[in-house]
Amino acid sequence: MQVPDIIIAIDGYSSTGKSSFAKIVANEFGFLYLDSGALYRGVTLFAIEKRLINEDCTIDIPALTGALEELDLHFGKGGTYIGDRCIENEIRSLEVAGKVSPIAAVPQVRNYVDRKLREFGRNKRVVMDGRDIGTTVFPEAELKLFMTADPMIRAQRRLAEMNAKGDHADLQEVLKNLQERDYIDSHREVSPLTKADDALVLDNSNMTIDDQMEWLKEVIQKRFNC
Ligand code: CDP
Repeated sequence: MQVPDIIIAIDGYSSTGKSSFAKIVANEFGFLYLDSGALYRGVTLFAIEKRLINEDCTIDIPALTGALEELDLHFGKGGTYIGDRCIENEIRSLEVAGKVSPIAAVPQVRNYVDRKLREFGRNKRVVMDGRDIGTTVFPEAELKLFMTADPMIRAQRRLAEMNAKGDHADLQEVLKNLQERDYIDSHREVSPLTKADDALVLDNSNMTIDDQMEWLKEVIQKRFNC
């Protein structure tokens, strides 16, 4: 299938399988995949290590804003990096997951990440997933998807993913984390998680990845005549 030079923006709730799907889509169409959540997670890890966020999620915003000027966060071989240190595993921990939404609600952090994402997405043929890609980062994206699924199914999927990596967690704890993140993400002042008017909803509660791919190909064929 010859897909034109477009940007595909995938937004939606936590653990709806946005990144797994986006990676497969990128692979299938020869697009670049960009995981915007990984950058928010990277800033969170950085803030934890520099002690700019404490246990109750109070953030030293002026210090964090200053420190961001020095932060070299980028994608490289195998995932996300700070300078030449690969942080891909650390950013997936429950500790980072528990602090990322408050960090992502800080306007200065959003500016920092938005700037990077726009730079990475300049050349089209990009699939980007996140919470505000179709609304804020690339409102001009030619194709926007909004992914959702039943919360319990999402928690089970996330737990299975963590178990597969040898990270053991409790189902209720994972469910609580994703519901808290959904709440904070949807209610923050700056770029809240919301469906763009022109986004197509994809509820994958009862869909396999193959079902999703078939659905997407049909959408693309119809919309772009390819
Ligand atoms: O765990 P999941 O894959 O669902 O989340 P993620 O994509 O890794 O994103 C982690 C967190 O980063 C989200 O819960 C949001 O708080 C924040 N985020 C955001 O605010 N805007 C984005 N474009 C992407 C992520």
